[in-house]
Amino acid sequence: MKTYALILAAGKSTRMNTSKSKMLQPMLDRGVIEYVVNNVKKSMINDIYVVVGHQKEQIMELLKDQVTFIEQVNQKGTADALLSAYEELKDKQGNLLVTCGDMPLIDENIIRRVIDEHINKKATATLLVSRVSNPKGLGRIVTKNGVFERIVEEREALIEEKKINIVNSGTYCFDIEVLFQFLRRLKKRSSGEFYLTDIFELMVNEGKVVNLIYEEDETCMYGINDFYELNRACNALKRKINTKHCLNGVNIQDLESTYIGIDVIISSGSTILPNTYLYGKTIIKEGAVIGPNTQINNSVIGKNSVVTNSVVDSCTIDENCLVGPFANLKNGSHLHDNVVIGDFVEVKKSEIGHNTKAKHHAYIGDAKIGRKVNIGCGVIFANYDGKKKHLTLVKDNVFIGSNVTLVAPLEINENSYIAAGSTITDNIPQNTLAIARQRQVNKLEYVWKMKDKNS
Ligand code: UD1
Ligand code: CA
Repeated sequence: MKTYALILAAGKSTRMNTSKSKMLQPMLDRGVIEYVVNNVKKSMINDIYVVVGHQKEQIMELLKDQVTFIEQVNQKGTADALLSAYEELKDKQGNLLVTCGDMPLIDENIIRRVIDEHINKKATATLLVSRVSNPKGLGRIVTKNGVFERIVEEREALIEEKKINIVNSGTYCFDIEVLFQFLRRLKKRSSGEFYLTDIFELMVNEGKVVNLIYEEDETCMYGINDFYELNRACNALKRKINTKHCLNGVNIQDLESTYIGIDVIISSGSTILPNTYLYGKTIIKEGAVIGPNTQINNSVIGKNSVVTNSVVDSCTIDENCLVGPFANLKNGSHLHDNVVIGDFVEVKKSEIGHNTKAKHHAYIGDAKIGRKVNIGCGVIFANYDGKKKHLTLVKDNVFIGSNVTLVAPLEINENSYIAAGSTITDNIPQNTLAIARQRQVNKLEYVWKMKDKNS
């Protein structure tokens, strides 16, 4: 029997107290709703619908062709959100997994369990619940003599009901056909909303099988309604990811200040020092040492390379390299083995050959640099003429002295030597010493003349 998924994401995010929808708020390196879509996908459901309304353009842009969108024109509650999918789903047969776009910690295993138990128990509806230490804001599970009766929302709950700490996750599985029959019968609440949670009482009263699944880990209930909750969910996710890497043999020295995205791959035997962010499709290989105070995004760091106090975006760093402190590497730059990029060096869209060193204060942009090149302090690859970017080619064993400006386009051939302070505008043949600066004049005893003039 086929299972479809519907993610509710049209709500106004009123409690966030800011204009941006909670679905789009960043949690580690992704928007909140991206985790929900990802978890549903990983639970092996291929047909995913997302109900959008508030800030629908931005949500659709973020999720693009991963899902099918359904619009809820007026946000009249969770039941109304589901009803807006009627046209799309009415002819489908099977089960519908419903979950909320603001519940990113309900992972694929939990979702799978909900679906499997729903099918095995031949239930009309299955709902995921958990016992939490603080149930405030969540729908409470009301039972009578241990048997499920209904869900009561915080707003309508009596004092005694508010004390119930078994709560509704907002994740359910339904028989599609029966779902829509019952949905139409729900009544508007005094708040003006139609609550999906009212459906269960109706079902129970009419003898339908409503099955409850209890999840032990209460952090899966961490939803996002305001910034406090966003912070709490983000920290819980961060801890789960970091713990997984630690147990895999990664030495993460401070679990609190290390932020690792879900797609990052880290080999055992590497070390992550405090205050470090590893995001996107980053890969860290064995023996690498990253941090402290480092951000790496969509990059590969090779075996035994060290990146300290630096920013690396969309780059490949091969083995045994040293990067930082305070380096900025970006736009597809590639460092081959044993390269050293030291303090205050920016590398943009450049390839740097084996054993080449730029140890301090340099800008390397749009360059292809060979092996064993020395790039002195203060070297600038002047790649931009105000209109276009130009390339610089530096071949093997070139020595570039301090404070040299290389005005691109340029080709500097093997074994050449550029004197400090030169501004190079012409190509340099191999084995050549290039000097491009004024000769120094020493005016002997001139100081006394100056003093005479001033007196
Ligand atoms: C809801 C449940 C509550 C449960 C909690 C778990 C209801 C009435 N209550 O409360 O029992 O404990 O989730 O997270 O269902 N949405 C729409 N259209 C709307 C309104 C909401 O798409 O018109 C979406 C929201 O974007 C959100 C989800 O539905 O993703 C849940 O809505 P929200 O307002 O956050 O409900 P809660 O108060 O958290
Ligand atoms: Ca919510």
